[in-house]
Amino acid sequence: METMELRFSEEQIMMRDMVRQFAREKVAPSVEDMETNETFPAAILKEMGELGLLGIPVEEEYGGAGMDFTSYIIAIHEISKVSAAVGVMLSVHTSVGTNPIRYFGTDDQKTRYLPKLASGEALGAFALSEPGAGSDAASLRTTAKRDGDDYILNGTKSWITNGGYADTYIVFAKTDPDAGKKGITAFIVEKDTPGFEVLAKERKMGILGSSTTGLAFEDCRIPVSQRLGDEGQGFAIALSNLDYGRIGIAAQALGIAEAALEHATAYAKERKQFGKAIAQQQGIGFKLADMATAVEAAKLLTYNAASRKDQELTTGIEASMAKMFASDTAMKVTTEAIQVYGGYGYTKDYPVERFFRDAKVTQIYEGTNEIQRIVIAGKLCKD
Ligand code: CAA
Ligand code: FAD
Repeated sequence: METMELRFSEEQIMMRDMVRQFAREKVAPSVEDMETNETFPAAILKEMGELGLLGIPVEEEYGGAGMDFTSYIIAIHEISKVSAAVGVMLSVHTSVGTNPIRYFGTDDQKTRYLPKLASGEALGAFALSEPGAGSDAASLRTTAKRDGDDYILNGTKSWITNGGYADTYIVFAKTDPDAGKKGITAFIVEKDTPGFEVLAKERKMGILGSSTTGLAFEDCRIPVSQRLGDEGQGFAIALSNLDYGRIGIAAQALGIAEAALEHATAYAKERKQFGKAIAQQQGIGFKLADMATAVEAAKLLTYNAASRKDQELTTGIEASMAKMFASDTAMKVTTEAIQVYGGYGYTKDYPVERFFRDAKVTQIYEGTNEIQRIVIAGKLCKD
């Protein structure tokens, strides 16, 4: 496996500094409201759109910033240090809500949807999972039956990030239920389509500012012009975009872990017990050393996967490694951060309990870490 040199270009450094400032000045003040009232941060997304953050890798001809994948990963990383809820919205909107149209859309679909998605006028979502089909995504049961110039969709989706706030949903359905994985087709579904309904919001442990809902399709007519790719190409569209999407979740997990490390280090230097700062107690110092080492390793894996994408090298195995390792690191580091804070860490007066709750989901979505191991082992052992 090739390695990378973690040296950002001038453009990437400008992106990092701009997003860091935006997160501190514009996102941080809304965290309390997102946490207490589960408020969807519409105003923040609007500002992100104005700054070009919702179309970072989208080509300039479609109104995007036309920047590289690493710049996009930097943005998720920096935003997630302050709010993992906003981080996942950015990731889902771009990686799996917009990119499938960039990679598989017709010229007409690109012209119709990309400028709005890139500017933030429209928010994107991705609907693969169903109540009975999570890890085994190919067992999905939503159907799409051809009827003249339309398809008629019936079925239920679950766990849809940006549900209720998205304008377009990339929806996967079976056009040939007997053909298994090869019978799945992707569609672009617009929010106000008759027969399409957004179901109740999930009541979650963390990322409380992010909306997660089910979706229902009842005789929902979608014109053939909104089919994405060919009939039967849907599963490959889903999995290939998840390859890149998983690097975004790695960056989100990295942001959470790094924030927890920064807070725990500052607290340990300040908090005194037995006549000295707890950071000077070797037991706490060693904890911080282990946390910092894990964060550094997660950073290298994440940016290595991003750099490979920019170099047009394969990313499947590296994206899964980065997602798995960064999310496990986020869970370990946030758990230890609470320990460093002692009892105070267990309260909502300090941010580490939020980091801990937010970290957990990064081990679950975009393929659980067990699934990442299946992907890595499968690719390692392929003949
Ligand atoms: N790129 C392109 N095509 C691919 C591909 C890739 N990376 N991987 C597989 N395919 C295609 C191939 O065409 C393959 O066909 P062949 O047999 O001809 O090679 C076909 O897909 C089937 O591949 P598999 O046999 O490997 O499929 P599988 O049924 O064994 O499943 C799996 C593999 C890895 C378990 C897959 O089902 C999976 O990734 N599951 C997890 C689902 C998931 O990640 N869901 C995320 C939902 S989105 C989300 O959660 C959003 C959020 O973060 C907030
Ligand atoms: P299951 O697949 O039922 O898995 C249960 C447990 O069994 C897990 O630990 C799993 O790892 C394990 N397991 C399953 N199969 C195997 C195996 N073969 N070997 C070993 N262990 C196995 N989906 C979307 O399509 N779009 C979204 O926008 C989206 N956003 C989400 C947001 C949130 C907050 C959450 C929680 C989920 C979201 N998801 C989304 C769904 C997410 O991708 C699934 O939850 C995930 O893929 C796991 O599916 P499942 O929950 O059905 O668990």
